[in-house]
Amino acid sequence: MIRKVARSFDEWRAAARDLVARAVPPASVEWAASEADGDLFSFGADGAAGHWHGHGAEAAAGSALRVPRELMEMLASAACFSAADRWAFLYKVLWRWQRGERDVMSAADVDGARLYAMVKAVRREEHDMHAYVRFRERKEEDGAPRFVAWFEPTHEVLPQVARHFARRMGNATWMIATPTATVLWDGEHLHNAPALMRGAADIDDAGESLWLTYYRSIFNPARLNADLLRSHIPSRFWKNLPEGAIVPAMISGAATGERRTGQTGTVGRRGGATTIAVTPERAQPRRDAPDTLDQCRRCELWRNATQAVPGVGPRQARIMLVGEQPGDQEDLQGLPFVGPAGAVLDRALAEAGVARDAVYLTNAVKHFKWELRGKRRLHKTPAQREVAACHVWLEEELQQVRPEVVVALGATALKSVLRDGGATMSAVMEAPFQHEGRWVVAVYHPSFVLRARDEESRKQAYDVIVAGLRQALRLAPARSG
Ligand code: URA
Repeated sequence: MIRKVARSFDEWRAAARDLVARAVPPASVEWAASEADGDLFSFGADGAAGHWHGHGAEAAAGSALRVPRELMEMLASAACFSAADRWAFLYKVLWRWQRGERDVMSAADVDGARLYAMVKAVRREEHDMHAYVRFRERKEEDGAPRFVAWFEPTHEVLPQVARHFARRMGNATWMIATPTATVLWDGEHLHNAPALMRGAADIDDAGESLWLTYYRSIFNPARLNADLLRSHIPSRFWKNLPEGAIVPAMISGAATGERRTGQTGTVGRRGGATTIAVTPERAQPRRDAPDTLDQCRRCELWRNATQAVPGVGPRQARIMLVGEQPGDQEDLQGLPFVGPAGAVLDRALAEAGVARDAVYLTNAVKHFKWELRGKRRLHKTPAQREVAACHVWLEEELQQVRPEVVVALGATALKSVLRDGGATMSAVMEAPFQHEGRWVVAVYHPSFVLRARDEESRKQAYDVIVAGLRQALRLAPARSG
């Protein structure tokens, strides 16, 4: 009997390659169960693609092992399935494949069926974890993460889920703890940390109670369908969801008469958003003055954004459109106006006869400012000091592009363009005006259209944007030739 230890998919893969090269059948191998202290990030990132080729001794023995990508991906997924015999089972599948038993990849085969079931369970667990991890916000101190979450996954999906959140949450620091492993994101890199005891992530902070208040406020007992609620949120997740603690009481409250009261009374009772104290030293580490937007540390917004979003468009554009700040999609893609507000803007540009690629599009603030609600990053209006700190970049764009007309989309843009924190839309929206040698047209921000309460106000706001864009075109007709 040959004994092999596999603490990660990579280790298993290396061992399996060696065994296949030496023609060792599955019955002659004893696999040691995976140990929880393996390196979480040593597998799964790129290990699931491509083919295996024997190296060194195996290659010399003519034992190149080719495995189709689809099987590799299934093996990598199934490796996350929590079962004591998983490495032995994966080796059996691999062994059968390399002996030409292609049925092993069929769901009609007994091993194939088990492989598919394992993969399905793991993918479902990944999906559930994306959906049900709830970060709680806490004070950032001593380098501790700003957001923490506790989750008890059935399978070992933490590495890939951590990569998902690393892509999703920009530079905000966070930690996800599970009973067997913990992952930390420092804003740039993922790190393994020792497993925590349940409770370490239980922080009853302002962010937590804010979320509960919100959850209570959206709970409408008159429309409660408890079965549906249970089927949407499997009960095993409830205990780790902040709302899990209050849902049972709300269900029984609804059953005992609160249906009459309709929406609960807590909406809006709570005061403003949580502020997170950041010392000036932490918000603005001592550095040389930034000379590229990417390096900008003039305010603290860079800390939680994925990237700075610069303006785009021709350097000789005669019209410059200035928005407020990138949104969630813009932050992820690094481009302005590519999300829902961008769709409204595109429609308005088309209706006004302005080609999007003929104008220069930018924002007053170049980093996405957001707050976490559940697991969504919600836009937060930038403070005047952030608008002022970012003005230098808008000024640089104005100097380079030298547009004849600037269209300010909303109040934040207007304040930045006029360099006047007190500027208001109502004072200037009626007609274009001259400022520092160029025309300024002020219109509503496209997201104002999205937020309008009814169809009529939506149309009114949208028409103001279209009219402003037409006006801009009249003031700066496209150059001919
Ligand atoms: N809102 C803005 O102000 N700018 C964008 O780029 C996207 C949404």
